[in-house]
Amino acid sequence: MKQDIYVLGIESSCDETSVSVVKNGREVLSNVINSQIKIHENYGGVVPEIASRCHTEVINQVMKQALKEANVTLDDIDCICTTYGPGLVGALLVGVSYAKGLSFATNKPLLGVNHIEGHIAANYITHKDLKPPYICLIISGGNTIIIKVNDYTKFEILGKTRDDAIGEAFDKVARVVGLGYPGGPKIDKLAKEGKEIIDLPITHMDNMDFSFSGIKTAVINLNHKNPDINKADLCLSFEKAATDMLENNIKKAIKETKINKVVLAGGVSANSYIRNRFEKLSEKENLEMYFPELILCTDNAAMIAAAGYYNYIEGKKSDLTLNAVPNLKLGE
Ligand code: KG4
Repeated sequence: MKQDIYVLGIESSCDETSVSVVKNGREVLSNVINSQIKIHENYGGVVPEIASRCHTEVINQVMKQALKEANVTLDDIDCICTTYGPGLVGALLVGVSYAKGLSFATNKPLLGVNHIEGHIAANYITHKDLKPPYICLIISGGNTIIIKVNDYTKFEILGKTRDDAIGEAFDKVARVVGLGYPGGPKIDKLAKEGKEIIDLPITHMDNMDFSFSGIKTAVINLNHKNPDINKADLCLSFEKAATDMLENNIKKAIKETKINKVVLAGGVSANSYIRNRFEKLSEKENLEMYFPELILCTDNAAMIAAAGYYNYIEGKKSDLTLNAVPNLKLGE
């Protein structure tokens, strides 16, 4: 194998069109992200058909810019990696079809990457010394999973949400409270003004699964019954209850696996309250704690290229029958 491996990553699973060039899995040469947030804001959430059309309109330009910023040409690329799931089917198909076309035209290897693996791999970019094994808590718009990362491409699921993903709950609470889309960052900001904690019900599981729908419904009911309730307090209380649930399961995972290295990943790991609480937990429990840098928390192609790299060096490849898999699970 060559000494330096250049991977082109493509991400289009939701409302970000992104292309990136990453060297040796950890060095980002470019990471161009075209976000559609401004468009979907008008509808209070992502409209799948609009998302697909927007990806189609910009993907070629985003790819050209990524190559230019990385100062490479397609000839320099060793592998073309694209997210093939989970995500919105129409949105995924844009990236998958584009990657297949590029691979066919350039005769370069093609590799389908699991988006969730991408979120985990974002941490390899931020923390050059991070190595498995560790516990990873993935908290995003579509997933809430706690996993044991045994190796770069080997995962063991310890627990997952039984209902809403945590980001979904953030977005729904924000909508009900009147903050609009995207909800997570808006709750994050308003909660900083909160002073009083309102007790919210937390479902106690006997395993490491999560449940956020009870917390979400309690917030919605409180807001409905008391329209004048202090919204900042409500947001802070929601963050606290959701974080209590995350923390309980992390403690169980550390106890069960005896691993004290904890890595956060996914869009919700940008949340300042959650980061703060986990930093405190790491001090109290003497943990090694890792967070991705903010730009790598939410969807981007650098994380896809990083995850793709570790699969590529293991000899994995896809062929031109690669298809979008909207409900792809980790490890499939
Ligand atoms: O990882 P991501 O971009 O998409 C998925 O792969 O699912 O995560 C998007 C989610 C949204 O629910 C968004 O509201 C949430 O991440 N998010 C946040 C913050 N920034 C983004 N949630 C809480 N606090 C934030 N600062």
